[in-house]
Amino acid sequence: MKKFAVIGHPIGHTKSPVLHEAGFIELEIDATFEAVEVAPGDLASWVNGEFRNYHGVAVTIPHKEALLPLVQKLSPAAEAIGAVNTLYWEEDVICGTNTDCLGALRAIQSELPVLEGKKVLVLGAGGAARAVVFALKTAGAVTAIWNRTTDKAIKLAADFEIDPVESLSSLNPDNFDVIINATSVGLREWKSVLPADFWSPHHVAFDMVYDPLETKFLSDAAEAEAPCVTGDKMLVGQALEQFKLWHGVELEPEVMGTAFFQ
Ligand code: ATR
Repeated sequence: MKKFAVIGHPIGHTKSPVLHEAGFIELEIDATFEAVEVAPGDLASWVNGEFRNYHGVAVTIPHKEALLPLVQKLSPAAEAIGAVNTLYWEEDVICGTNTDCLGALRAIQSELPVLEGKKVLVLGAGGAARAVVFALKTAGAVTAIWNRTTDKAIKLAADFEIDPVESLSSLNPDNFDVIINATSVGLREWKSVLPADFWSPHHVAFDMVYDPLETKFLSDAAEAEAPCVTGDKMLVGQALEQFKLWHGVELEPEVMGTAFFQ
């Protein structure tokens, strides 16, 4: 039997086990998926010790950045984003990658399959924003970034060679095809970074917040008849990419999509 886990601190609310277990049942894979609490001070010894007992491990807050120097081989995505959300083995080598970027792409492409040349506004400059900006770049989109703390937007824009935006009020909403909330605004609160009159029917709205799924950001967009992508799509998308990496098979998205709501 193959063993998998998600590690984090605290680990209480993670959806990873239920998503991956749905895949094990669907494809009759003999495997287990645990949620394991690992304190920040124990991370290095866990990776170099306990991890030997696992085939693959998903990583959540607060370990994604701290893992960078602890893995022996980093994927280009993990290196560019500066965060690891997936551990796996190649022979005896501890490898780290980041599937958040492909998860974000799967989410956006559920409404807009071709991103090449599309103009995208990303709000936020934390870890989630870095993953989505990297994804957009690989897909050929033209990305602009705004953040409450402008210096962080400027730094992220320089890292990925995209345009920083200093003030939202200076923007013409018509210049964007896709608008993405990668801030934590809207997480368990009814607030949006954008004014409601920013939205038009030609926009695609994607909110990376998934608690709640219906945020003010998406509610304002829907009111303006813009198509909306909810945060579960990214969470499921990044887990589907982990599944593909660990098991070498593609799982039907609906299997995890349905499990998300269990
Ligand atoms: P994550 O890893 O989920 O991206 P993070 O790195 O803590 O989390 O980043 C949170 C993001 O939400 C940041 O872009 C943050 O903006 P600052 O860099 O200015 O802190 C943004 N954010 C949090 N609260 C905000 C608020 N009230 N208004 C606007 N942006 C906010």
